[in-house]
Amino acid sequence: MTRRAIVAANWKMNGNSALVNTMVTGLSDIKLAENVDVVICPSFPYLSELKSELSKANVATNLFVGSQNVSEHDSGAFTGEVSTNMLKELSVNYVIVGHSERRSLYKETSTQVAHKVNAALNAGLTPILCIGESESERATEQTETVLASQLQPVIDEVGIEKFVDVVIAYEPVWAIGTGKTASSEMAQETHQFIRQFLAQNNELVAAKVPLLYGGSVNATNCEELFAQADIDGGLIGGASLKVEQFSSICLAA
Ligand code: G3P
Repeated sequence: MTRRAIVAANWKMNGNSALVNTMVTGLSDIKLAENVDVVICPSFPYLSELKSELSKANVATNLFVGSQNVSEHDSGAFTGEVSTNMLKELSVNYVIVGHSERRSLYKETSTQVAHKVNAALNAGLTPILCIGESESERATEQTETVLASQLQPVIDEVGIEKFVDVVIAYEPVWAIGTGKTASSEMAQETHQFIRQFLAQNNELVAAKVPLLYGGSVNATNCEELFAQADIDGGLIGGASLKVEQFSSICLAA
């Protein structure tokens, strides 16, 4: 089963127009493998500019634009929110949903995350569904219980068949922004659990879902991580803000 490899950049609340231009120029110079898709997820204000710069530059066709969040509502009195229709109008392709920072800082529940995944799929966007455990949950052997509790509401809402259009990013919270990357063995073991959990519902679908690892991925550790059987790429934070680092990670996928 050859799944597409995906390297997604989560700029978080960082970056500017200069980085958009630097990144597009830098990525124009690399030759991505045929089966690798690269997704750049800047903050909302830069989505249109990024899309425009990518279409102007002579870049590979497997470079895509993603947003870092989306509302589960179509429209209405939701000040500060952005709808799937607005993202579609900007020709955005992917949307990160349920990032641990959204769950912890903005109290997004797994039910709300499921609604967001459903809204994204209904709009033809590809959701990158983020799941992951905290340090204390890992230390007390609750990881699989936590991941199951984050996945099940989405399976219940959208149905396992729709997961062929979903990307999952496993991001252990304790590895995000800390430099404490999960070992390739631990990451593979957890990705294998995620795939087996999906397979309990539908084996064929489970085999197709790209599973990305996120949490202190860099140009040094990415190769060993991406070599794992159930790791199909990465969701990159800090290292995605540096063109050389991010280009190396994309080439390692
Ligand atoms: O969404 C990706 C992000 O959470 C990982 O951040 O800086 O550890 O690569 P970082």
